[in-house]
Amino acid sequence: MKFFIDTANLEQIKEANELGILDGVTTNPTLMAKEGISGNEAIIQHYKYICEIVDGAISAEVLSTTYEEMIAEGEILAAIHPNIVVKIPMIKDGVKALKYFSNKGIKTNCTLIFSAGQALLAAKAGASYVSPFLGRLDDISTDSLNLIEEIRLIFDNYGYETEILAASVRHSMHIINCAKIGADVVTCPIQPILSLLKHPLTDSGLEQFVKDSQKMQ
Ligand code: E4P
Repeated sequence: MKFFIDTANLEQIKEANELGILDGVTTNPTLMAKEGISGNEAIIQHYKYICEIVDGAISAEVLSTTYEEMIAEGEILAAIHPNIVVKIPMIKDGVKALKYFSNKGIKTNCTLIFSAGQALLAAKAGASYVSPFLGRLDDISTDSLNLIEEIRLIFDNYGYETEILAASVRHSMHIINCAKIGADVVTCPIQPILSLLKHPLTDSGLEQFVKDSQKMQ
């Protein structure tokens, strides 16, 4: 399973990359705005910085919502670096844009996926990734892991190569369950990834080993 970090914060991206397990980065307008990035030049420059840090798929989301504008914006984003994946919302014009970019060999990530039907449409249109949002479904008392299972089944039934990119991942159990179900990628902030390495028996075991190692010196 691939690990992407879900942030536009360069320090956090560097920290995750230094762990040696990072396969990519996802951003969205909320995350970019949080870092104070505004204006076309600054947006492009920020994606360049991210591409310099991480050698992997970097999702850059379009800000527009009409077909023509998404195409124009996506072309500019895709030209920044070969690793850029154009992130397109799951709307009618978005499906058309996914098909356009797929025909041109430009990678896409279809975002704001909340149902299996939406994922099927995006795969049919040639999306490279679909992003089902787990945490936001859990927030409205809906079984987000069931959605991942449904999408996995559908994609396997028809051999779709579209990767399931589990997004809005909030904690380490989301990551573990996604891995059990067979999501291709999870994207989340650094904290849930760091939680994976924690176990109290590891801490107490290491404490004892360090103590005993002093008797050996
Ligand atoms: C990723 O592609 C999404 O933009 C992101 O995971 C959304 O996460 P949130 O629901 O925590 O905002």
